[in-house]
Amino acid sequence: MDNVKSILDTMEEYAAVQHVPIISREGGQLLQEVAAAVKPVAVLELGTAIGYSTLLLATTLTIGGKITTIEQDENRIAIAKQFLSDAGVLGQIKFIAGDAGEVVPQLVDKFDLVFIDAAKGQYLDYLHKVMDKLSPGAVVIADNVLFRGWVLDDKAAPKRFRTIVKRLKAYLEFVANDFRFKTTIHHIGDGMAVSYYQGETNQ
Ligand SMILES: C[S@@+](CC[C@H](N)C(=O)[O-])C[C@H]1O[C@@H](n2cnc3c(N)ncnc32)[C@H](O)[C@@H]1O
Repeated sequence: MDNVKSILDTMEEYAAVQHVPIISREGGQLLQEVAAAVKPVAVLELGTAIGYSTLLLATTLTIGGKITTIEQDENRIAIAKQFLSDAGVLGQIKFIAGDAGEVVPQLVDKFDLVFIDAAKGQYLDYLHKVMDKLSPGAVVIADNVLFRGWVLDDKAAPKRFRTIVKRLKAYLEFVANDFRFKTTIHHIGDGMAVSYYQGETNQ
């Protein structure tokens, strides 16, 4: 993994030129910090795009660890595979092509870290579907939860984004109030929610 830095740089350039949305630099740093503390064996990522955050996460895996990543755009999966092969981490990644909302219920593994970064209007649905697949002490990280600041000030959101904004708000309310999660919302990049799973019993 010696060349990870230069591959990440290349991916950033590719994403900028091709208009592929990827996690911000500071968001990526937080993602890596949280993941490095959790030392995950099993990671689930929703929304691979070109594999930029997948590569960040791959650098934090415990030996023998694996990332399952779901993406609905097959062209992006092909590009991600090439980048992750160049980085020498392809063997640790399982790609699943499809709609995350349909794929997640079919997964049988438990996960130590879940990164939600697919359809913004579906975050709460994804979380409900992933809940029985969280290992004790797992962390769920969701990107873009403040969505250009509109989640905190929904009246400013253009009409076409109001449903997404409403749903992101519902996601944040859920992870802030449900006893199974302890959540911090980070005002970096487009906003990231880091939610530690406390288990199913309310003590
Ligand atoms: C913001 S990008 C992911 C960026 C990536 N996590 C990163 O930071 O490098 C969101 C991706 O989710 C994919 N996506 C959107 N809706 C999806 C769905 N319902 N199921 C699976 N993938 C989806 C999009 O095609 C897009 O590539």
